[in-house]
Amino acid sequence: MIEGFRFLPEYFSPAQQKALVAEILSLLETCPLYRGAMPRTGKAMSVRNSNLGPLGWVSDIKGYRYQPTHPATGEPWGPIPKAMLDLWSDVSDYPAPPQACLVNWYEAGSRLGLHIDADETARDAPVVSVSLGSRALFRLGGLERSDPTSSMRLASGDVVVLGGVSRRAYHGVDRIYPDSSTLIPGGGRINLTLRRVTAP
Ligand code: SIN
Ligand code: FE2
Repeated sequence: MIEGFRFLPEYFSPAQQKALVAEILSLLETCPLYRGAMPRTGKAMSVRNSNLGPLGWVSDIKGYRYQPTHPATGEPWGPIPKAMLDLWSDVSDYPAPPQACLVNWYEAGSRLGLHIDADETARDAPVVSVSLGSRALFRLGGLERSDPTSSMRLASGDVVVLGGVSRRAYHGVDRIYPDSSTLIPGGGRINLTLRRVTAP
C-alpha cells in the first residue's frame, strides 16, 4: 500500500454516525447541496456537494477553487462539526485545524472519477475522509494516472487518511451500493473530507 495511506474501519460507532448525519442534514438546510460543473466543459458533476468551514471547494466552468461563500446563496459556509474537528486532531498529525469540510452526496448512480486533490497549498497536510451511509467502491492508485490501482469497499463509519505520499495519489469512487445502509434517507452516501487549504 502506498506510504501514508491509512484505513480506520468503523472509526465512528453507529450512534456517532447517526448524530453526525443529523448534524450534517441540519447544516445543509442553510448551506444547501448544489450540483457543480466540470471545468472547461461545464458538464454537470455526478455528485452533489456543499461545504462547511471557513473555506469551501467549488467546481464550475471556470475551474476548481476554494472560496469563503456558498456559490448559490452567497452566504458563508456553515461550521465544521465538532466530531470532525476532533477527528482531525486525532489522526492528522498537523499543527493547525482544517479549513474546509467538503460534503459529497452520492445517489444510487453517482460516481467520482479518478483524480488528485491538488487545489490546496498546504501540501503537507493530509486529507481525512469519513464515509456515512451506503458502502462505496473506492479506488486508490499511485502518483501517475496510469499507475496500477487497487479497490476497497468503504462502509459507514470508516475513516481514510490520505497523508504522506498518498496525499498526491489518484483516487476515486467507482460506485456505491445503494441498498447497503439505511442511515441516509433515500439510501445515499455522504462523504466528508477535511482539508487544510493554506499553510498556517
Ligand atoms: C473525494 O475524493 O473527494 C471523495 C472520496 C470518497 O467519496 O470516498
Ligand atoms: Fe479526492
